[in-house]
Amino acid sequence: MRTRLTDMLGIEHPVMLAGMGGVSFHRLVAAVSDAGGFGTLGAATMSPEELADEMAKVRELTDKPFGVDLLAALPERMLEGSRQIVRGGASLFVAGLGVPRDIIDVLHEGNVLVASMCGKVRHAVAAVEAGCDFVIAQGTEAGGHTGTVATMPLVPQIVDAVGDRVPVVAAGGIFDGRGLAASLCLGADGVWVGTRFIATPEARTVPGYKDALLRTPEDGTVISKGFTGKTLRAVRNKWTDHVERHPEELAPFPEQMMRAIQANALHLGGDEHAQVDPDKECYPAGQGVGAIHELVPAGELVRRFVAEAERALDRVMSVR
Ligand SMILES: Cc1cc2nc3c(=O)[nH]c(=O)nc-3n(C[C@H](O)[C@H](O)[C@H](O)COP(=O)(O)O)c2cc1C
Repeated sequence: MRTRLTDMLGIEHPVMLAGMGGVSFHRLVAAVSDAGGFGTLGAATMSPEELADEMAKVRELTDKPFGVDLLAALPERMLEGSRQIVRGGASLFVAGLGVPRDIIDVLHEGNVLVASMCGKVRHAVAAVEAGCDFVIAQGTEAGGHTGTVATMPLVPQIVDAVGDRVPVVAAGGIFDGRGLAASLCLGADGVWVGTRFIATPEARTVPGYKDALLRTPEDGTVISKGFTGKTLRAVRNKWTDHVERHPEELAPFPEQMMRAIQANALHLGGDEHAQVDPDKECYPAGQGVGAIHELVPAGELVRRFVAEAERALDRVMSVR
């Protein structure tokens, strides 16, 4: 399956692992890249030392290309982070929040491509005007911090706005090859998948997370400000219900994040030995969660995405 994205990234399949903070560490990243997809480290919760270590460990496991995702909301981390990404041998930087204007040149000089997460058409236009190499159109169905526009209308509108200049990657609620085929039909050049890759043996998670994904139906997630103060889609639980009933108790970002941490509802950094209470814990998940019934090795998932998309596209051709 060759697209502008596979050509640009030098990969076989247009399937990208989302750079999920607290989940996308070296084992998962290497497994996806090694299978011909593109793995992205979720570095938002990593210290600079941990990021260096994680990049080195990816390199020990595979010589295939990989990327790093950081939140552009933390400007002080960005410049040093971008130099580190160049040194660590990553070939893509993804800005999780905002357009990474100040560091695009440093990254490009180091032969690192730059992409930006976008939840609105105007974010995508700003990212392309700032020099980003491609954009990721993330719909509200997505797990983690998310906006209000759904993937189905967002992707083609972003394709119309910037698709003649850069590749567009679809994200949010995509969990199998039918979603990949649909994204290609909407004009996207690939997919960026989060939640489905958490339910893999290679994903690092806080306790109870994978079980929560296996038991949660498609309507079992909610967008809540209760964990960080920003709108974040996660598995609905007693904590999100409480916040929904008592919005007056919410603080803005980042104070609400500190409160959630203090209340034992948020464990950043994917600590597999944390003492978590699943009734309160932040388990970010997209609406595709209802389709997750088993853990599947990440490389196998990449291969299934492609095989299923090919079948779906054959079916589309046969109804013409
Ligand atoms: C646990 C989790 C953590 C995430 N952390 C980040 C992050 O640090 N930076 C970012 O750009 N996106 C983050 N996201 C959003 C993903 O990049 C991606 O857009 C989203 O997972 C796609 O939707 P899906 O989960 O339905 O596949 C996160 C998502 C999840 C589920």
